[in-house]
Amino acid sequence: MPKRYLLALDQGTTSSRAIVFNADGESVASAQREFTQFFPESGWIEHDPNDIWATQNAVAAEAMGKASLRGRDLAGVGITNQRETTLVWERKTGRPIHRAIVWQDRRTSKYCDRMHSEGKANDITQKTGLRLDPYFSGTKLHWILDHVDGARKAAERGELCFGTVDSWLIWNLTGGAVHATDPSNASRTLLYNIHEGQWDEELLEWFGVPHEMLPEVRTSSGDFGECTDFGGATIAGVAGDQHAALFGQTCFKKGTAKNTYGTGCFLLQQTGEKPIASKNHLLTTIAWQTKGRRRKYALEGSVFMGGAVIQWLRDGLRMIHTASESEPLAASVPDTDGVMLVPAFTGLGAPHWDPTARGAIVGLTRGTTAAHIARAALESIAFQSAELLEAMNADSGIALKELRVDGGASRNDLLMQFQADLLGVPVIRPQNTETTALGAAYLAGLATGVFADEKAISEQWKIDRTFEPAMSSDEATEKMGVWRDAVSRAKGWAK
Ligand code: G3P
Repeated sequence: MPKRYLLALDQGTTSSRAIVFNADGESVASAQREFTQFFPESGWIEHDPNDIWATQNAVAAEAMGKASLRGRDLAGVGITNQRETTLVWERKTGRPIHRAIVWQDRRTSKYCDRMHSEGKANDITQKTGLRLDPYFSGTKLHWILDHVDGARKAAERGELCFGTVDSWLIWNLTGGAVHATDPSNASRTLLYNIHEGQWDEELLEWFGVPHEMLPEVRTSSGDFGECTDFGGATIAGVAGDQHAALFGQTCFKKGTAKNTYGTGCFLLQQTGEKPIASKNHLLTTIAWQTKGRRRKYALEGSVFMGGAVIQWLRDGLRMIHTASESEPLAASVPDTDGVMLVPAFTGLGAPHWDPTARGAIVGLTRGTTAAHIARAALESIAFQSAELLEAMNADSGIALKELRVDGGASRNDLLMQFQADLLGVPVIRPQNTETTALGAAYLAGLATGVFADEKAISEQWKIDRTFEPAMSSDEATEKMGVWRDAVSRAKGWAK
């Protein structure tokens, strides 16, 4: 019997998940475990690296058990992960020297301000496609090396390893034999030159990071070593979660795009073999690199509050008991009756990048009900995503023909229809919305011969539902205008 199963490990911000896929790209079994979030100071967020590894390893074994599979049934293992989260461990013992600093952690804001004032921001953006912002790994790694006694010296002696979560999992899965990452994860560190495809010596110097501690960068679909467990299965696919979702949505053609509606929304458009520098405040990033092929690039925009605004209706306002109640409540009114909700609770991400913006509800009247507010909350997710897409079309010069969607809130039909209305292009929800894990499995399957090529993978992508735009473009433009007006009132509020 040929080995036909793929084990995907999806290490996210709040939970570790594992899904076993068969060669038809169908999920056979899955398991998920949440782990502790640490908030040592305001704006700081940490994970215990041992929790990350223990939960990920446990769910992998659980999923394999549920599928009644042994390691020898696996063609390969794929890893996808929360990006930017930064870990440092001892090469000799594998012991972390600090808790992982999570991508949402803002402790390095002042350090970023200092680098801004030294005039380094433009060069950093030119080399990395990113912004000089605490979001990314480089500033967090600088912080750990500065704050853990003797760390920088130990790193210079080659005694420490830096890694994003993928590297940490590879290290543990291979029993410390492999210290590696892939270009998509490397491209989120502020240390990797996305044009040259290598760690950038000048950036390493600016961030005070010794080269000795960096992982080797291997192609996203290729050999990352053998697991000491799982029958010695090969780790054959690695990509950051949003990049894996783009791959899982089979966005193999230049210009295709996906939007993941999770806690936030991450919109990525594959832009081909040349990086496009954004003029509209988006990020340029490496989408993936498969074996023997050139790097593929993407434009990325993210909004901080996507599905989280529905959680706020539930937990903050107690307007609904479950997230799914938001749809019938919003659908009980024909429109928001002029109410706009700007969910800038933690500032605004792309394309505004305003940390001082705060949430706002405007247009309230005596006739406003919970239903209007619920509808405005749902619509705000679509408005924010539409702004990202406008910026993307302007940057890439490629007018989007359709948008592929996934993530929890993509199950919300009202939201998807409104999204299509605003964008004026079809919004397509695939049957399998587990696209992040699927993308990791596809990358592993491509390297191990389960799939002959991208075409074979594309054939597995099946539509669940297409939402055709039903609003006139004049009305959509008018609504976007009102949204921008509302956003302008939320900006700078916490200055
Ligand atoms: O850039 C952060 C992103 O990769 C985290 O994704 O799904 O774990 O919240 P998620």
